[in-house]
Amino acid sequence: MKKLLLTTLLSCTFIGNAIAAGDADSGKTKAAVCAACHGSNGIGIADNYPNLAGQQTDYIVKQLKSFKDGSRKDPVMAPMAMPLSDQDMLDVAAYFATFTITGESKGGSTTASEAAPATTPVAAAPVALGDAAAGKALYIKGDAANGVAACVGCHGEGGDSKVLINPNLSKQHPEYIAKQLNHFKDGSRVDPSMTVVGNNLSTQNILDLEAYFKSPDVDAKAVVVKKASVAKLNFVGDVEAGKAKSAVCASCHGVDGNALVPMYPSIAGQHEKYIAKQLADFKAGPEGRNDPVMAGMVAALSETDMQDLAAYFASQKIKPSAVAANAKGKSLYQGGDAERGVTACIACHGVDGNGAALAGFPKVASQSVDYLKSQLSKFRDGSRNNDMSSMMTNIAAKLTDEDVAALAEYMSSLK
Ligand code: HEC
Ligand code: HEC
Ligand code: HEC
Ligand code: HEC
Repeated sequence: MKKLLLTTLLSCTFIGNAIAAGDADSGKTKAAVCAACHGSNGIGIADNYPNLAGQQTDYIVKQLKSFKDGSRKDPVMAPMAMPLSDQDMLDVAAYFATFTITGESKGGSTTASEAAPATTPVAAAPVALGDAAAGKALYIKGDAANGVAACVGCHGEGGDSKVLINPNLSKQHPEYIAKQLNHFKDGSRVDPSMTVVGNNLSTQNILDLEAYFKSPDVDAKAVVVKKASVAKLNFVGDVEAGKAKSAVCASCHGVDGNALVPMYPSIAGQHEKYIAKQLADFKAGPEGRNDPVMAGMVAALSETDMQDLAAYFASQKIKPSAVAANAKGKSLYQGGDAERGVTACIACHGVDGNGAALAGFPKVASQSVDYLKSQLSKFRDGSRNNDMSSMMTNIAAKLTDEDVAALAEYMSSLK
């Protein structure tokens, strides 16, 4: 009991320590990369991506610092937090604070791309294993006999925390809540308050709490998921103008962006933003992306030309490749390798290899094996280093030749 009291005091001393405010406008630019997983409005795109909308800003900043200094371990978030300065963290937290959980901005104007997405209430999920009533009782009263403090004291009524450093739970994905409780229980996430709680929770307790957070008691209506947004086919550049300018590219990349020779990448259907970035990087030369052939191609292109070309190729369709899936590549692509510190590729390039347009993660599906191999090797030896925050160079550095070959085959086999 003593230990419980002490930790309660510990988390309460943080109340007066509100962190200085960040700048939501600069946070918006910095948060573009976060959108792939947390949504451009802070609503996680899947159950395992926590909602950041409506979360306490102090709590968000504290978590980003923990991911950066390694005290909270997560292979996906570590490289995300690494390049952020203290000011960046304040700014992105301020940006996400401008959204409510329904996806509507609390203030200021919203651009079309940010407008509230179609949201659907989580279907009343069949509660197979947990007992919502037992979870509610545990949440409100705790379980003194087993050393579990009442959650309500720190996380507020119905999970609506009033303490700046204690996270809101009411608007969080219940699956994510259960996952975090298991992390506190098995010690993979450590926190002076929650470790004690987690250690004393049984597996059944966690199932019951998950059921409680899924129940209408916890304002379940407020928990919304963002429907995977259908890629809108409206381009920044001019598709027709791009087509006219693309004749010179056809000898290597094909008239419609499907290359005929495997050493040249197919660029049909690639994300517009990614194509435009590559063209600008080639133009920047060794400081950008170093390739003597492409350098010559882009030397005379204006920014408008690049945007138009990007729009044209993005509007084309890539032809599925005939390569068979590689089992070793699949397991590395989907699961990564925690022991060697290889982040699962799926985190950024997606389950079907479609990447994420907003975050600048390229499509890799149906790309030629030769080209994929060459790029992984270039990231590995550093001769390609135009990736933001060294996301790819850090990962490729840990890959063997065998990994590179297996991954290239697997990515190419994706449709
Ligand atoms: C590739 C997907 C991905 C991207 C991109 C990403 N995140 Fe995350 N983020 C995650 C996952 C997965 C977790 C949950 C980790 C865990 O299970 O402990 C997480 C957790 C967090 C948390 C902790 C939330 C909580 O409730 O504890 C914060 C804060 C966060 N991310 C902020 C950011 C910011 C800011 C960015 C952009 C700079 C970003 N993330 C980019 C996947 C991503
Ligand atoms: C003594 C105060 C305290 C008590 C009691 C407490 N918590 Fe927490 N909880 C915290 C703090 C502080 C954090 C943030 C930890 C961090 O900074 O990483 C947290 C984090 C969490 C998280 C992670 C949220 C996220 O967004 O990643 C979950 C889930 C959680 N608590 C659930 C519970 C449940 C369920 C109970 C009751 C069985 C409970 N907590 C009891 C203080 C408390
Ligand atoms: C003589 C052959 C050739 C021509 C013509 C050519 N390219 Fe390329 N392109 C290449 C090669 C080779 C690469 C791969 C460079 C590397 O290994 O980094 C490439 C790479 C690219 C990439 C990067 C693809 C990715 O997935 O990252 C883009 C985008 C691109 N080219 C667009 C164009 C456009 C637009 C034109 C016309 C203005 C053009 N290319 C003309 C040979 C060519
Ligand atoms: C944290 C996010 C992240 C993870 C994880 C990640 N990538 Fe990437 N990847 C990127 C980004 C960003 C780029 C584009 C960099 C740029 O702007 O040129 C990229 C580019 C690539 C390219 C070049 C594509 C092209 O058309 O030129 C390949 C191939 C690739 N990644 C493969 C992988 C593989 C294999 C893994 C897993 C071992 C992986 N990536 C993991 C973010 C990621």
